[in-house]
Amino acid sequence: MSEKAWNTKLNNDVTVPSFGLGTWLSEPGKVGAAVDVAIRYGYRHVDCAHIYGNEAEVGVALQNLFKEGIVKREDLFITSKLWNTEHSQADVIPALQVTLKNLQLDYVDLYLIHWPQDLPRGVTFAEMKDEHYLGYSEEKIADTWKGMEDAVAKGLTKSIGISNFTIKKIENLLKAAKIVPAVNQIESHPYLQQSKLKEYMDSKGITFEAYSPLGTPGRVAKGENEPYLMDDPVVKEIADKRKCTTAQILISFALHRGVIVIPKSVTPERIKSNYDAQKITLDDDEMKKLYSLEQNFRYLRFFMMKTGQTEADFWDADYDEKVVIDAPDSKRQKS
Ligand SMILES: NC(=O)c1ccc[n+]([C@@H]2O[C@H](COP(=O)([O-])OP(=O)(O)OC[C@H]3O[C@@H](n4cnc5c(N)ncnc54)[C@H](OP(=O)(O)O)[C@@H]3O)[C@@H](O)[C@H]2O)c1
Repeated sequence: MSEKAWNTKLNNDVTVPSFGLGTWLSEPGKVGAAVDVAIRYGYRHVDCAHIYGNEAEVGVALQNLFKEGIVKREDLFITSKLWNTEHSQADVIPALQVTLKNLQLDYVDLYLIHWPQDLPRGVTFAEMKDEHYLGYSEEKIADTWKGMEDAVAKGLTKSIGISNFTIKKIENLLKAAKIVPAVNQIESHPYLQQSKLKEYMDSKGITFEAYSPLGTPGRVAKGENEPYLMDDPVVKEIADKRKCTTAQILISFALHRGVIVIPKSVTPERIKSNYDAQKITLDDDEMKKLYSLEQNFRYLRFFMMKTGQTEADFWDADYDEKVVIDAPDSKRQKS
């Protein structure tokens, strides 16, 4: 058992706490308290997004912690994400300024393009119709990336990255990018390890960040007969043997893969026990068992597409399957 926190070094030499707090579906009225409990307990990394609709409350919680002297701004790693309605060079800085105002910060540590999928400006989820799903445009993403690079130059974010990008879409972006994305944030857990994508990203120096590491059980729109990851018998067996929770094993699995992991909770005991997963050292046999659970099962179903489009199209399934890369060792490190 190690008492130390896990860290990851990004391709621009910025160090990120490999474990952070997710805030998607953390309801207004609860998210501030969750951030407060987390940071007092030792969390130094919070994952936010404009579309989560709760950044202002996160901002109030952060200000209180700064005023009380619990942490300083520079002790924290705060991520936010650009929403799909703001995909042009000119849109990025104004959108980031809204996020900074809500979070009451001068800069974020990491700003991500949330999805490689365009939506018309001003259209909300409730209003979305078939004609609003503009799809993926290599040109628009390349133009948006210029705005992300402008945000770095202006000091509004320390690092920039992407989220939900496939190998094909990263290849397209790299043709135009002056700054290589520091991170790609994607769904990952034992049922969806995304090993090929990880190998590809390792070969390009792009850090893999795992969202929904616990199988995202809090969503309303769940698939029928969806497996409950935290009840998986193999995960349970390892947790029982170690007298810890299955959530802790899933978090530890990600850390041992050299992946950044950002489980969400608004429940104080879970926030704390999830953090303590960093103390677990899994052995090779346990890791082998967890790796054997791969079933290419995605919890977060992609829905922002026109009639006739498929998820396989969105995830570039055919193309990504064909890519084979020799990956260097992962950049995982413990400090
Ligand atoms: N870039 C993207 O497109 C994207 C997509 C999805 C997620 N994300 C990010 O990744 C974060 C994590 O993913 P997620 O929120 O989808 O799912 P998750 O972290 O896999 O699961 C969160 C759910 O698990 C519950 N939970 C947390 N700890 C638990 C424990 N120890 N025991 C039992 N249940 C526990 C939470 O409940 P309570 O809160 O009620 O405790 C919540 O319902 C998000 O919050 C967000 O920041 C990004």
